[in-house]
Amino acid sequence: MEEGPAPGAGAEPVAPLGERMERDHDRLNDLWDEARRLWPEDRGRSTPLFEAFRTGLLHHIREEEEFMFPLYESRNAASAKYLTDFLREEHDQIRSELESLLRKVLAGVADLEPENTRLTNVLWAHNTREEGLLYPWFDEDRTEGERLAP
Ligand SMILES: [Fe+2]
Ligand SMILES: [Fe+2]
Repeated sequence: MEEGPAPGAGAEPVAPLGERMERDHDRLNDLWDEARRLWPEDRGRSTPLFEAFRTGLLHHIREEEEFMFPLYESRNAASAKYLTDFLREEHDQIRSELESLLRKVLAGVADLEPENTRLTNVLWAHNTREEGLLYPWFDEDRTEGERLAP
């Protein structure tokens, strides 16, 4: 049988939250890759991409801290807080590295390698942890309301 449109009057089906957040990691990394590819030869196009990367990543982190972590903590054993505390500490490092990077971008400094490398390292480890331990929980056995929020 041919695959027809999903029920719901052609509305796009909404992916579970963990899956959407994982895609957001990829979207942000693509944005950052493109910004780096254009730097420093084309600062005019690269700078707004770095800024969009920062805005997007800060928003992503805020959603995790304000919605995902508290829900995960409230529905799991007290030991769940080890994971979220660790993830929060990494968020602090990410915010700090992100600000160092953007300071150099806005000052037009050609060599961004030390900042990009430090941020790559913390972000890679952090995203891997979230995708392996935190996000799968949001896509299993949640009520519809929770699965689709925020
Ligand atoms: Fe995070
Ligand atoms: Fe994340």
